[in-house]
Amino acid sequence: MSDLHRPGLENVIASETDISYLDVENEEIVIRGYDLIELAKKVTYLDIVGLLLEGSLPTPSGRNAIEGKLKSEYGLPSNVCSILQLLPEQADLMDVLRTGISAMASYDEELDDRSREANTRKAIRLLAKVPQILACGYRAKTKLPFLDPRKELSFTANFLYMITGQVPTKMEEDIFDQSLIVYSEHEMPNSTFAARVIASTQSDLYGALTGAVASLKGTLHGGANEAVMAMLLEAGSEANLEALMLNKLSQKERIMGFGHRVYMKKADPRALLMKEALADLAIEKNQPELYNMCVLGEEVMKREKNLHPNLDYYAAPVYYLLGIPIDLFTPIFLAARTIGISAHVMEQHGNNRLFRPRVHYTGPRGLHPSEPQTR
Ligand code: ACO
Repeated sequence: MSDLHRPGLENVIASETDISYLDVENEEIVIRGYDLIELAKKVTYLDIVGLLLEGSLPTPSGRNAIEGKLKSEYGLPSNVCSILQLLPEQADLMDVLRTGISAMASYDEELDDRSREANTRKAIRLLAKVPQILACGYRAKTKLPFLDPRKELSFTANFLYMITGQVPTKMEEDIFDQSLIVYSEHEMPNSTFAARVIASTQSDLYGALTGAVASLKGTLHGGANEAVMAMLLEAGSEANLEALMLNKLSQKERIMGFGHRVYMKKADPRALLMKEALADLAIEKNQPELYNMCVLGEEVMKREKNLHPNLDYYAAPVYYLLGIPIDLFTPIFLAARTIGISAHVMEQHGNNRLFRPRVHYTGPRGLHPSEPQTR
């Protein structure tokens, strides 16, 4: 049995899927047959929602129908808003999001219906509500009033509006939409695996997504985007960044936003797309030094460790320039990934085999208690 042990399940094939695949050799992220980066340049996030849930890109009227269904699901039960307000100010917004999604489960009458149709409706419902949960969670924490969703805005513009209170410009909306696409789905990361493991017990979509939130919070996964921005702000300048990174490396610390279990020695194509977006946004916002700093950080890591940036490295400064508070970076990653995770849960429910691996036992054998225990 120990021959089968792969720490971290590295390179183990955990599932069959027709949702997505990382073709590292050809530097392509395959999403239902399409290249994710090409999709991000040509279609909108709502098209990706249709592609992931239905298996094909929607027609324009199909996309409008998805948008209509999403908007009809806007709004949170008032008790869920109250729960978010009861959480302490210091609560991490990923914990707030996890609590909000978990609480929402009790309000869904279709919770235990695992049919494809019901799961599709629940996925849309969750996608509509998760942005509002994270926006309300943030606003409760910072004592700002909750903002109701505005149906006359696009899904993406409304998402940003509920956080910042400002209607984004077309450029801001487009860049944010592109970021949602590149975060939407990525084969079998830890959070998706966690969700599939939970779903394989025939548990529900809300429970699987709640587990995925806990997974994504960790800094080796989604939490890296917040850590990247903290590092960039701590440095504040190109000269300081190089010194800071070299110091971290000399202390054997990891630099967040670099490396990837699958890409490791190749570039993450999503990072390159966000780098382009950052270049444009930095000019628009007159913050060229932030872009220059990030490029320098990339050069330092290539030189010192031969490591490439992952998506989080360039998504973080993009979100910063969009005026998004740093502690919402990882919750936004989860909001975008809600649809990818939902597709995986639906696939798991549709063709299930319970995940139940074994262990390579390294503990003792043959021990006996010396005296009978009195109870
Ligand atoms: N900074 C410094 N060194 C690194 C980094 C890094 N970011 N990433 C990997 N390394 C080094 C390790 O120290 C190790 O070196 P060694 O062999 O000399 O000990 C080597 O590269 C291999 O690292 P592993 O930990 O074995 O690689 P693994 O596949 O487990 O790691 C991971 C992948 C967790 C993403 C890692 O690269 C990391 O910690 N990165 C920083 C966190 C991060 O950015 N996470 C976001 C991931 S992408 C996403 O979720 C969107």
